[in-house]
Amino acid sequence: MSTPHNQAEFGEIAKTVLMPGDPLRAKFLAETYLEDVKQFNAVRNMLGYTGTYHGKKVSIMGSGMGQPSIGIYSYELFKQYGVEAIIRIGSCGSFQKDVHLRDIIIVQGACTDSRFAHQYELPGTYSAISSYDLLENAVMKSKEKELTYHVGNILSSDIFYHADQGTTEKWASMGCLGVEMESYALFATAAHLNKKALTLLTVSDSLVTSEETTAQEREKTFTAMMEVALEIA
Ligand code: HPA
Repeated sequence: MSTPHNQAEFGEIAKTVLMPGDPLRAKFLAETYLEDVKQFNAVRNMLGYTGTYHGKKVSIMGSGMGQPSIGIYSYELFKQYGVEAIIRIGSCGSFQKDVHLRDIIIVQGACTDSRFAHQYELPGTYSAISSYDLLENAVMKSKEKELTYHVGNILSSDIFYHADQGTTEKWASMGCLGVEMESYALFATAAHLNKKALTLLTVSDSLVTSEETTAQEREKTFTAMMEVALEIA
């Protein structure tokens, strides 16, 4: 049974889905890493694929940018397609001087300026966290591969071009490592539906230094992060 945003039939999507933001990245990753690849979605060009990685069934699908977008796709994957775990693989801007370009952030928790969790009508503030077993496995794999990684809190913002330039320092002063735009909604959706989620990020830009990186260098770290995600999927 398809949804308004996903034409897949039940059973065509694996229990674990890796989600980059960019659907063309999903296509590239599926074609590069998976065997016996079958495309299951093209609605709104939000491409999704299922294949096998070392014999294990895995799906890779784009999430789009922002919490509304990943909120829709993750909800449908969990609720309609029997998906048990989503691992977001994305990029972020660094908030901290010692979190350098190309480092990996294994996201433990996400703060937000979004009102996404207001839908649950909680009598307080919801703290969105990743699933500990996925987090632990990602840390072990990253250690094994001798990657430079950080584990901690991030900001999932609704705003890329913020009118108030001072927000970076405020979130940084609370220990947030970096900023992206999806994890809070993903973690909250997973918690609400009793499913699992994790985010792995590569640092693509810095909001505190003027470090730069080449596309080739970014690709290399992304590959390392992708391999961690596939191995823990
Ligand atoms: N802001 C928000 N999201 C991002 C950024 C950023 O600087 N870099 C990569 N994703």
